[in-house]
Amino acid sequence: MDNRLPMIAGNWKMYKTCSEAVESARQLATLAGDAENVEIMIAPPFTALTGVFDVVRHTSIRLGAQNLHWEPEGAYTGEISGTMLFSAGCRYVIIGHSERRQYFGETDDSVNRKILAALAAGLSPVICVGESESEREAEKTFSILDKQMQNGLEGLSLNQMDSAVIAYEPVWAIGTGKTATPQQAQEVHEYLRKFLVGRFGEETAQKTRILYGGSVKPENISELMGLPDIDGALVGGASLQPETFSKIIKYKN
Ligand code: 13P
Repeated sequence: MDNRLPMIAGNWKMYKTCSEAVESARQLATLAGDAENVEIMIAPPFTALTGVFDVVRHTSIRLGAQNLHWEPEGAYTGEISGTMLFSAGCRYVIIGHSERRQYFGETDDSVNRKILAALAAGLSPVICVGESESEREAEKTFSILDKQMQNGLEGLSLNQMDSAVIAYEPVWAIGTGKTATPQQAQEVHEYLRKFLVGRFGEETAQKTRILYGGSVKPENISELMGLPDIDGALVGGASLQPETFSKIIKYKN
């Protein structure tokens, strides 16, 4: 991963009010703003985006959102577009998180439309893929990932893929305290990179960052980051506390 800048991203999910998010961002900027050779991204809830952007705009911390709609605007009550996110200061957007697939009916098709919409709005999509526990037990991990990647990345050009990030989040490891073993994670990341080679060619595949997500903590980040195809982490629970998250960001220290 020598030529890929590691990325540590915090997905705050549906946690933190505006003032809590702003305060956490302030603390994070103080604790981790000086971290080198790592890109930091935080994805607060929609309501806190502009407040958090005011805190991080002059720091190295990048802002992300957790979802978007595939149209730039329109009569879609309750939805938020990529253009709106960009104007709020976002440069990243998480797409296809397993919680959205599980609870909000997202499919590979809607994920694909959202990825294309994000790119059209100037946002880098952080594209989530991952198998459930039963799929892993049935030895369907690779066929599921293949389908998610194939359908999710349908129609993407080489240039578009250059600004995308992939996040492998095994559903059984999210919020459960069960991390994939380093071998399990590396095996899948290697598989995903091979997929990218086949689909986009060697150069793009080698440039694309593939993050791991699922119970990442200060205690396991170094080992994960030591693996050749793991280029960062998408952190849920452990990103909510700035002190804990900054330890993950500074995994090299
Ligand atoms: P946890 O780190 O809480 O397991 O969540 C992972 C996740 O879903 C990040 O998007």
